[in-house]
Amino acid sequence: MKVLHIVGARPNFMKLAPVLNALKSRENVAQTLVHTGQHYDANMSDVFFEQLGIPAPDVNLSVGSGSHARQTAEIMTRFEPVLLEQKPDIVLVYGDVNSTVAAALVCAKLGVRVGHVEAGLRSFDRTMPEEINRLVTDQLADILFTPSGDGDINLQKEGIAAEKIFRVGNVMIDSLVKLLPVARSRNFDGVPERYALVTLHRPANVDDSRVLKSILQSLLEVSHDLTVVFPAHPRSRQRISEFGLKTDQLRLLDPLPYVDFLCLQSRAQVVITDSGGIQEETTYLGVPCLTLRENTERPLTVTLGTNVLVGRDPEKLRSELSLVLAGKQKKGTIPPLWDGHAGERIAAILAE
Ligand code: UD1
Repeated sequence: MKVLHIVGARPNFMKLAPVLNALKSRENVAQTLVHTGQHYDANMSDVFFEQLGIPAPDVNLSVGSGSHARQTAEIMTRFEPVLLEQKPDIVLVYGDVNSTVAAALVCAKLGVRVGHVEAGLRSFDRTMPEEINRLVTDQLADILFTPSGDGDINLQKEGIAAEKIFRVGNVMIDSLVKLLPVARSRNFDGVPERYALVTLHRPANVDDSRVLKSILQSLLEVSHDLTVVFPAHPRSRQRISEFGLKTDQLRLLDPLPYVDFLCLQSRAQVVITDSGGIQEETTYLGVPCLTLRENTERPLTVTLGTNVLVGRDPEKLRSELSLVLAGKQKKGTIPPLWDGHAGERIAAILAE
């Protein structure tokens, strides 16, 4: 069996690694890796490949940045000849980024089977570009690997046949389980014992100057109680400088490698974020997470885990933070099948 994996953006390298590794130990499986180049900075891509033990891509489409239409179209145009040449039996796409939907569309048009890893997540908010990517990718996929039961229900409501859905658990947690011991043994210079770890990059939060200014104002308030450590996504850094906003009281860092970020996450008093994956990682780690979004496609992190949606309400952020500071934070549990073996389950299903 010939499997072609295609990835392009930071959050999906952690999902690829466990599947790739699990398939390596299967007989008669040949694997090809395509990087779209959606994320191209060394600290957004290369360093993740190194730390996660992913081999260098066989093909790099080098698409780079652009508007959604342009980036998606560019990936499609450049991926089509690669697919025609490689002739895989199945293409695996990951997560919900533009690279995911673009690749799924090319496969569907050429009649190549597609497996979607991390299928079925829904925020029910179509203003999020990722929600459009999820809906379209899941409609096109032939095999859908879901992380949890809510995913199965969402897919069936959208008319997807139950035979195509496989609940395998959370692949991103596989990478976390594997590298947590390494992360825990790291020394991280220049960060105090108590700190709030912040990440921010959603267009809805960073592309509007008033919204971004108000979030930075809230973070400034947080910094009165805890050092605010903020590894900034390139997009957020660009906006902060474009809008001329002040961040003097915050400890801004460049984007961090996977293991370093995991180390900081595991020791943080609290994580404040608008990321999807970090809501899950903090739930696994039992670290309080305050999410700067009105909704989440990962509802288990709220119902079972340590996640609280604070939206863009500074008052809610303040009150939730004081609970954390008083040691009265939400206690969570780890959802079923977030056990470090999701990649192996995917490999077993594919091998059958
Ligand atoms: C993408 C995903 C988002 C994911 C995020 C993680 C989509 C629609 N969104 O958003 O789901 O959570 O990745 O990071 O696919 N840039 C660089 N260097 C890079 C990559 C990006 O400077 O290596 C800058 C560029 O100016 C670019 C901007 O960041 O225009 C946004 O990058 P892009 O990949 O378009 O989207 P993300 O915001 O990263």
